[in-house]
Amino acid sequence: MNKSRILGAGHFVPERIVTNEELSQMMNTNDEWIVERTGIHERRWFTPGVDTVTNMSAKASRMAMERAGVAAQDIDFIVFATITSDYFLPGNGVLLQRELGMTSIGALDVKNACSGFLYALSVADQFIKTGMYKKILVVGAEIQSSALDKSDEGRSSAVIFADGAGAVVLGATAQDQPGILSSHLHSEGAYAEELYCIAPSSSGSVRISQEMIDRGDFFLKMNGNTVFKHAIVRFMEVINEALDHNMLSKDDIDLLIPHQANLRISQYVQQKLGLPDEKVFNNIMYLGNTTAGTIPIALSQAWEQGKLKEGDLVCLAAFGSGFTWASVLLRW
Ligand code: UT7
Repeated sequence: MNKSRILGAGHFVPERIVTNEELSQMMNTNDEWIVERTGIHERRWFTPGVDTVTNMSAKASRMAMERAGVAAQDIDFIVFATITSDYFLPGNGVLLQRELGMTSIGALDVKNACSGFLYALSVADQFIKTGMYKKILVVGAEIQSSALDKSDEGRSSAVIFADGAGAVVLGATAQDQPGILSSHLHSEGAYAEELYCIAPSSSGSVRISQEMIDRGDFFLKMNGNTVFKHAIVRFMEVINEALDHNMLSKDDIDLLIPHQANLRISQYVQQKLGLPDEKVFNNIMYLGNTTAGTIPIALSQAWEQGKLKEGDLVCLAAFGSGFTWASVLLRW
């Protein structure tokens, strides 16, 4: 059985910086509330006509491949996590495959929202373990800002979500080498409507109607409080599950990269695990919550900042729409 290892990570975020001050001109909110409740000072939003999920993910992927020392033609497969693909169909995997000039390799799309990247990483890990593929591009990218209700009604979501892309190259390695130790995936569909977006929907007579537009069915809808309460429980559960599975303890963690949902969630998890600040990576303060993008973007930045050293025990964990939640434990 093979083992998989992250060979390189890359990221791209749009140029446009949106400050809390700018948001407070669009809706009834303020810097103090946003910083206190979310930890976010600013985020990146795409520019229509310039940024797309495809071109952002291509930039992130090129960076990941360069750092991994892997050429586009060496990639065997793409797993692309996004809930905001450029088209309703086909998915973004094939658009990235075309953009990167890759030949006829397979491309799979994963639609598990905030847990999407970890689901994607786990899928890629299985393909490598079985020996089916040797090098897989695993991507998490989103344009969320076009799905946000920027009126007072949508303010609790509008201040959180943002745009960006991250990618890693996952490669086969020997069993005794560092790499992915295990992944743990969960869902609870009973809570699907706590964080969702209805339109475009296939179960109506048309996928998008004037009535749906008037109702704002194409906006992301979140019951933030319920999501928050479940998130803090599930984050802890799934991190402990990964540690127990590998007979490791929280003290063995060198770096925790939580999905960047809300700084208060990360801080709660940090405090429960008793981890010092230098062992938890957060970038939500200046990038917001980019859904499937947060973890690969954070991996890329943590590597750039010298926070990922060979053999380090890295814990990745996420929770979000579905509900879905997941963790991946790896040696860098
Ligand atoms: O990415 C994965 C999935 N997402 C998450 O994990 C997000 C989890 N949830 C959260 O991060 C938080 O619930 C939010 C940041 C979304 C909201 O924070 P909260 O502390 O749960 O606030 P709340 O929704 O309970 O609202 C508290 C008050 C309300 O006013 P009243 O009823 O107390 O008068 C809201 O209307 O804050 C008000 N409020 C705001 N005020 C200013 C809500 N949003 C805003 C805002 N600016 N943007």
